[in-house]
Amino acid sequence: MTALENREPAAGSAADTLLRVDDLHVSFKGRGRARKVRAVNGVSFELGRSETVGLVGESGSGKSTVGRAIMRLIPADSGRVQLDGRELLSLGRSELRAARKDVQMVFQDPYSSMNPAMVVADVIGEPLDVQAGMGRSERNTRVAELLEAVGLSQRHIERYPYEFSGGQRQRIAIARALANHPKVVILDEAVSALDVSTQNQIINLLEDLQAETGVSMLFIAHDLAVVRHIARRTVVIYLGQVMEVGPSERIFEHPAHPYAEALLSAVPVPNPEIQRRRERVVLRGEPPDPTNLPLGCPFVTRCRYAMDVCADTMPELTPVDGGGLVACHLQTAGPNLAGRSLDALGVEAEPIVPPTR
Ligand SMILES: Nc1ncnc2c1ncn2[C@@H]1O[C@H](COP(=O)(O)OP(=O)(O)OP(=O)(O)O)[C@@H](O)[C@H]1O
Ligand code: SF4
Ligand SMILES: [Mg+2]
Repeated sequence: MTALENREPAAGSAADTLLRVDDLHVSFKGRGRARKVRAVNGVSFELGRSETVGLVGESGSGKSTVGRAIMRLIPADSGRVQLDGRELLSLGRSELRAARKDVQMVFQDPYSSMNPAMVVADVIGEPLDVQAGMGRSERNTRVAELLEAVGLSQRHIERYPYEFSGGQRQRIAIARALANHPKVVILDEAVSALDVSTQNQIINLLEDLQAETGVSMLFIAHDLAVVRHIARRTVVIYLGQVMEVGPSERIFEHPAHPYAEALLSAVPVPNPEIQRRRERVVLRGEPPDPTNLPLGCPFVTRCRYAMDVCADTMPELTPVDGGGLVACHLQTAGPNLAGRSLDALGVEAEPIVPPTR
């Protein structure tokens, strides 16, 4: 039984699934004689039609690797990635070229993925030449349409990327990603380098474009406040494993995983009662070495609730009240929260040092 089958229907899943990632594993060869870097270790989640899902976690947790593996920019060791029921990981080269049209990616620094010698008409128009085989005048009409959709004007069409601000360049990258009417756009820290007001403009733009086109978005970000705003559901990953997944509102107000609690403790909550109750939980220490993962729960070395069982047994994903799934022994062993969030706990304990595998 796979991780996604082993749970209650709709607990952490999309209403109308478009993209389904199941038990994805990705590793990189270690340097020299070093062991391999286990960047993604069994990640599963779903993205619905016209839905935005947030993917959050600390630096190095494997967020970009998940995005890149879905895009097949890097190979997966195992797992499944289905788009509209079609398996992407086993596609041959020519089928993959056609499928790439449906899944696009926008990066933190679009400048590095734009050819600086190309004018905007070509930056945005290139995928139309390559994938849609459009003629020049049809292509230019579409480029003008896309520029308008992202809030730029036709007079920008003959300018070079360096002539734009960071926010404008991100608009160009979004226009390019949307050029061929993709089903999914993966935004990897797409607003992280922008100032707050430009971030807000881009977020509003993305929401408008989603309402118009119905595109689904996987929104990868460090900034949890931004994710809460844009994503209906959120996936929290740590050391390449899903710790918690569920409706953003429930996770942000009532996290069930100690890692989610720690990540979120610094994010303001609109509800003043919850804000008052929420203590600032300091996330101690660094994540373990991804070439030498803990045997049990990956968060055990930093968790303030860690118990003996956590050190040698990996917790299963279990349903949470209010929607979603959490991988934590607090739900089943120890205080047995049985689906309740961490609000129900008053327990504190010292972290313990786990054996490694
Ligand atoms: N090409 C690579 N070769 C070797 N290791 C890699 C490679 N790319 C990523 N890694 C490692 O895989 C792990 C996950 O990296 P990844 O870039 O996916 O994290 P991330 O969550 O996107 O982090 P950030 O928030 O800093 O972008 C890290 O330990 C990283 O060092
Ligand atoms: S399983 Fe144990 S160590 Fe892991 S998050 Fe839950 S309480 Fe903490
Ligand atoms: Mg990244």
